[in-house]
Amino acid sequence: MPHRRGAGVAPPLRTRLRRLRRTAALRELVAETTVDPRRLVYPLFVRPGTGTPQSVPSMPGVFRYSVADVGRVAAEAAREGIRAVLVFGVARRKDADGRDAWAPDGLVPSSVRVIRRSAPELVVLTDVCLCAYTTHGHCGVVRHREVDNDASAERLGRIATAHARAGADIVAPSAMMDGQVAAIRDALDTAGFGSVAILSYASKHASAFYGPFRELEQSTPSFGDRRSYQMDYRNAREALREMEQDVAEGADLLMVKPALTSLDLLARARARFSVPLAAYQVSGEYATLKAAAAAGVVEEAAAVDETLTAIRRAGADLVVTYFARDVARRAQGVGP
Ligand code: PBG
Repeated sequence: MPHRRGAGVAPPLRTRLRRLRRTAALRELVAETTVDPRRLVYPLFVRPGTGTPQSVPSMPGVFRYSVADVGRVAAEAAREGIRAVLVFGVARRKDADGRDAWAPDGLVPSSVRVIRRSAPELVVLTDVCLCAYTTHGHCGVVRHREVDNDASAERLGRIATAHARAGADIVAPSAMMDGQVAAIRDALDTAGFGSVAILSYASKHASAFYGPFRELEQSTPSFGDRRSYQMDYRNAREALREMEQDVAEGADLLMVKPALTSLDLLARARARFSVPLAAYQVSGEYATLKAAAAAGVVEEAAAVDETLTAIRRAGADLVVTYFARDVARRAQGVGP
């Protein structure tokens, strides 16, 4: 019998979404998204020389390690439940071409070899770029104060090959040169590294949130900025073209960054591409959360879990985050 609407009589609610929110156990049963430490990638920074780990004030808890220390740190992370690390190096000596980036005994290849030995179960990813190796701090070869795209892509191929030779599982080009994925795929295949995968930083916006990283990596450009190669954050369709292009060039996985400012792109990419998607919760996202927590504005663990969950919910399969070890420790029931 149809319900009659009378004055003051509310229609019976058949749909009550609160039914499944009533208890913690019910909420757990129907939760759609999880942040599993197995889906997180922990960035590791390596510095020349020996001695104690170095830090920058804006990134408490993040350090530049010596090659001698990085194996121990990787093994600790693995014991905590981390399954993948992304290795960043700096130049032992910077020059205009960034030659140290593809030196076989450079900091990244050396670290990869050390990590392979000390934590063989870890997936080892490496960042492939020139900015920490060039005197001018740009992500490519500079000619007449402009970044030469094709010459830069060729250099990225050399860097990726050096990383693959040291034992990297996945190389991750972050320079935003056109054709960089194809150049790297060709270089790897020619050198016999056909089974090394490419994670392309496909949609990388020129962002205010990379500042702390550049301090840590000493990779701030000495003139100009990165807007002639990194993407304008006003553009989403262009981001999808970048991703399309990288898939066509042979990217095995795609990445978007920064993470929290790219949730729309993750959702759209998830609907459009079948390759695994990664998001990078970058240094400025880490630093702002840390600063807010230190100021008592948010509770750190809760805020971190909420942002990582949102990034996963938007469509990321994996997340690169400086909070990875904290999350892993919490999952094991230890630490903050
Ligand atoms: C190198 C690179 C950058 C980041 C990853 N790879 C910095 C940049 O483009 O200036 C940013 C990572 C972060 O901020 O955490 N090109």
